[in-house]
Amino acid sequence: METSRRPDHEPAAPAPGGPTQPPAVPVLAGRTALVTGAASGIGRACAQALAAAGAHVHVVDRAGEAAERLAEEIGGTPWVVDLSEPAVVDTLPADVDVVVNNAGLQHVAPVHAFPPERFALIQRVMVETPFRVLRRTLPGMYERGWGRVVNISSVHGLRASPYKSAYVTAKHALEGLSKVVALEAAEHGVTSNCVCPGYVRTPLVENQIADQARTHGVSKEEVVERVMLERSAIKRLIEPADVAEAVLWLCGPRTGHITGSSLSMDGGWTAN
Ligand SMILES: NC(=O)c1ccc[n+]([C@@H]2O[C@H](COP(=O)([O-])OP(=O)(O)OC[C@H]3O[C@@H](n4cnc5c(N)ncnc54)[C@H](O)[C@@H]3O)[C@@H](O)[C@H]2O)c1
Repeated sequence: METSRRPDHEPAAPAPGGPTQPPAVPVLAGRTALVTGAASGIGRACAQALAAAGAHVHVVDRAGEAAERLAEEIGGTPWVVDLSEPAVVDTLPADVDVVVNNAGLQHVAPVHAFPPERFALIQRVMVETPFRVLRRTLPGMYERGWGRVVNISSVHGLRASPYKSAYVTAKHALEGLSKVVALEAAEHGVTSNCVCPGYVRTPLVENQIADQARTHGVSKEEVVERVMLERSAIKRLIEPADVAEAVLWLCGPRTGHITGSSLSMDGGWTAN
């Protein structure tokens, strides 16, 4: 009988074509991951999930204490840097197998009143920095013949909302970057995808809920159901761990053909 060898570009996995079974070794054993904005919310959940799957995780965030605490908890390495200075990316590790471009921020104002420096900052952190991170890490992935890029986009990478010009612009740009990387990287065993959540229960959103409740003089519950989730069929916030599960799946052994895609997890928002 012919013995099948694990292709160099695939992680430890169940037999190709066989039924899905729990892998004998964690799917990302021996792999290294870099997660930006890893100290909080979705990034934190991603770092935890990737580490639980066996990866050594570089925890990148400007929130020093939280990054260091998380790195210790998951046996990773903290990198305390401000990603609004894109040149800082050149100080981060280049040899990683998985990149999760996650760091982000929001600012809400109509276009005519939107501070230009705030607009530029959001493009730097959410577009230029991901570009620079990929520019730095893709050559190593190409050399090793395997890699996974997951860009945390948003329903706002696919749809617009008023008053979020910088955020919607940045997420649409990230979608474009992700697709270009998918095309360039395919021949090297590297995939690039976006995950596009609706509202996730994280500090970024908790702050928006509190702001809107104050502005409109209504309860936080009303803000969530009537304002935030108005366009979502499911009237419930997404949990960060659910986003992390999708990210992990995109880094796993069964998703090598998924590239250039945008995985909506928005409670039906974009179906509407
Ligand atoms: N929460 C949501 O509803 C939601 C929905 C869709 C997409 N997203 C996206 O998910 C990503 C994470 O959002 P979250 O809700 O977890 O936010 P969060 O505020 O909980 O976490 C963001 C993290 O990014 C870090 N960060 C921000 N600017 C940074 C900088 N200049 N340098 C270094 N680190 C920086 C913060 O310190 C923080 O730890 C963002 O890209 C966001 O756009 C969030």
